[in-house]
Amino acid sequence: MRRITISDIAKMKSEGKKIPMITAYDYTTAALAEAADIPLILVGDSLGMVVMGYESTIPVTLDDMLHHTKMVSRASKRSLIVSDLPFMTYQIDENQAMTNAARLIQEGGAQSVKLEGGRNVSSTVKRLVSSGIPVMGHLGLTPQSINTLGGYSVQGRDYEDAENLVLDATELEKAGVFALVLELVPEQLAKFISQKLSIPTIGIGAGVSCDGQVQVVHDLLGLDKNFLPKHAKQYARLADVIEDAFTKYCNEVKLEHFPTQEQSSSMDEAVLARLKAKY
Ligand code: KIV
Repeated sequence: MRRITISDIAKMKSEGKKIPMITAYDYTTAALAEAADIPLILVGDSLGMVVMGYESTIPVTLDDMLHHTKMVSRASKRSLIVSDLPFMTYQIDENQAMTNAARLIQEGGAQSVKLEGGRNVSSTVKRLVSSGIPVMGHLGLTPQSINTLGGYSVQGRDYEDAENLVLDATELEKAGVFALVLELVPEQLAKFISQKLSIPTIGIGAGVSCDGQVQVVHDLLGLDKNFLPKHAKQYARLADVIEDAFTKYCNEVKLEHFPTQEQSSSMDEAVLARLKAKY
């Protein structure tokens, strides 16, 4: 079994095969994603929200990303792992971007990095790619810019925004990204960009015409009882399953129904008697 490469991902687009991608932040989830044959695993900085409980991805650090990327890469032999460069780890200067991306690859075990932005990051993308680091781009709703965007809303609805997205996407392709996430972009615009680019687009809330789709694993598994973004679909409702299991466990402990003989071990009665006689 060999690992999926960026050439395999490019080939999937040229052969018209859709590209599934899912986020994973730990060993167990990554192993299950691989078992399901998902070719791309994203260690997204969304972990700041769904794992760490922050309100946005802004507080996520490179150390956080490294910690989780290591967990995922230990489980993965086949999927291509993409690790997010978090906020302000690639925007300050290109040398810092190189150092930080290299850490996600060398120490974290990822095969590629993802960063947000368009023409403003194209020179950084070029440097990373020419140094042997595959880069995935990310346009549309870019969560690291939430404080300037003002909310998690669809991007590129008016002419100027749509044109900027097309120009950014074209420039990122030229700079060498191997794939491009389009987040919360109208489906017609995502289709137009997907047809215009020769690299694959990976949509999230961007319609069915993207070359692939990415979902946050917590949304897909229904791990949050109270929140599901409009662009997400629950393939399971694990929050209910888990809460039910926890409640049953809690009650069985209180009632001494757990553990039973089956989960316990025993010792020779004579040994116990000797111990009791002495103490
Ligand atoms: O961090 C993340 O999970 C992402 C996806 C939403 C694409 O960037």
